[in-house]
Amino acid sequence: MIFQDVQAIVLAAGKATRFKTNTSKLVEKLCGQEMILFITKALEDLQIHTIIIVGHQKEAVMEVLKKHHSSNIDFVTQEKQEGTGHAVLCSKSTWHKDLILIMNGDMPLVTETIIEQLYNKHKETNATITLAIAHDTDPSGAYGRIVQNGNKLAIIEAKEFTADIEDHPFINAGIYLINRQFLESVIDLLARNKISNEFYITDLIKMASDKGEPISTLTVPFDRIRGINTFREFWAAEQILRSEIINHLMIEGVRFQLPQTNHIDLYVSVGAGTQIDAGVQLLGTTQIGNYCKIQSFSYLYNCQVESNVIIRPHSVLDTSHIKSNASIGPFAHIRNNTLIDEYVTLGNFVEVKQSTIGKRSKAKHLSYIGDTTIGEDVNIGAGTVTCNYDGINKHNTTIKDNAFIGSNNTLIAPVTIEKGAYTAAGSVITENVPAESLAIARTKQINKEGYAKKLRSRIQKAKNSENKIE
Ligand code: UD1
Ligand code: CA
Repeated sequence: MIFQDVQAIVLAAGKATRFKTNTSKLVEKLCGQEMILFITKALEDLQIHTIIIVGHQKEAVMEVLKKHHSSNIDFVTQEKQEGTGHAVLCSKSTWHKDLILIMNGDMPLVTETIIEQLYNKHKETNATITLAIAHDTDPSGAYGRIVQNGNKLAIIEAKEFTADIEDHPFINAGIYLINRQFLESVIDLLARNKISNEFYITDLIKMASDKGEPISTLTVPFDRIRGINTFREFWAAEQILRSEIINHLMIEGVRFQLPQTNHIDLYVSVGAGTQIDAGVQLLGTTQIGNYCKIQSFSYLYNCQVESNVIIRPHSVLDTSHIKSNASIGPFAHIRNNTLIDEYVTLGNFVEVKQSTIGKRSKAKHLSYIGDTTIGEDVNIGAGTVTCNYDGINKHNTTIKDNAFIGSNNTLIAPVTIEKGAYTAAGSVITENVPAESLAIARTKQINKEGYAKKLRSRIQKAKNSENKIE
């Protein structure tokens, strides 16, 4: 459907007082996406040109929007936050389409379907204003209530609502489609609310009703239009979104061991046959292939994981690529554009930073591998550390195919271990190691035969003299 006669105004200037963070709630991320983008992306998909009203924390809000929208949106600043009606008024000079769609910026679960239905209802009923409403009788919600008296309609804000909620079970969703001519004729007549001193867009409904203008309502599911004013409401909305994401993945063939403990962001994908265990978080743009096992309490952010990979418990993977059949963890930390090739095994307490690890290579215990290129079939012994940082610069380590690094090695970068070379356990490697050779870089062991007896008598003597002093 093409909405040629509609333009949108999204209200995003509010102070978010009830968040108590002093930042704008609209850039707070819900399943990995900033709250305001849920609405602007829907409007972009519908090809509706959008004006965003910004004010409080406007740089932060604009930065997010500019990053994700190259066109289709423009900004108007509401210098002083004097209410939703005042926010709309600020955009008056931009109105040029026949219909003005006004939406609160804090309702991220809204769908394109709701906007389409609102438009259709407006057209079908030939209304002056069509607004979305939803059934909600929870007295803790700070919504405006729809109050109908004969053929008169009004919205009474929560602070002023004294009647029985059960008698007025519908709330105002914060989405209004209004004929521009009418809006232009009444917007300047809005008066300040006596309690808050703000201008309310909701007063337009009573004004239209008093003038006998046709007003239509579209009833939509409450969960889709939840407004977010507090962190409790934020949590409730994110809970819904998260459940939908997990539900979708289950339908696609992903097995969840304990889904109520998982967090999955909006743009994450997981292939069929993969199992996600308790407490796993899959964040950002993480993509998981088929038949993987992502075990308990692992955290993956912006990672690409191919098929048949096992990520054992408590592993942290950040911005890295794990190829198929690799085995990672438990307690591994992979980060900064690391590339782990097929059939690699990284074990417990292994940290890999900005490195490439070739096919079938292994580092199974207690290692730090940083700024390193490791070839194929390399073995990294327990406790190996690449010393990549001299306090000023970072240096690279190269370990070529089939090399064998003994346990507890310290590789002082820049350094290269050539193909098939061995390094002895406990070595401090400061020089390059040629191919097919053995490097031993530790002091030679001396065994002093019979020396233990001598030592013991020396210790005994020392003890005796201490006793005498006492
Ligand atoms: C508003 C409605 C209420 C409705 C509810 C739905 C009013 C007076 N009340 O209440 O009837 O049930 O939404 O969620 O409209 N904003 C500005 N400039 C301002 C004030 C607010 O741009 O000066 C923006 C906010 O950033 C927010 C939106 O307008 O995105 C709504 O404001 P908010 O304070 O959240 O209104 P509610 O109290 O939730
Ligand atoms: Ca709100």
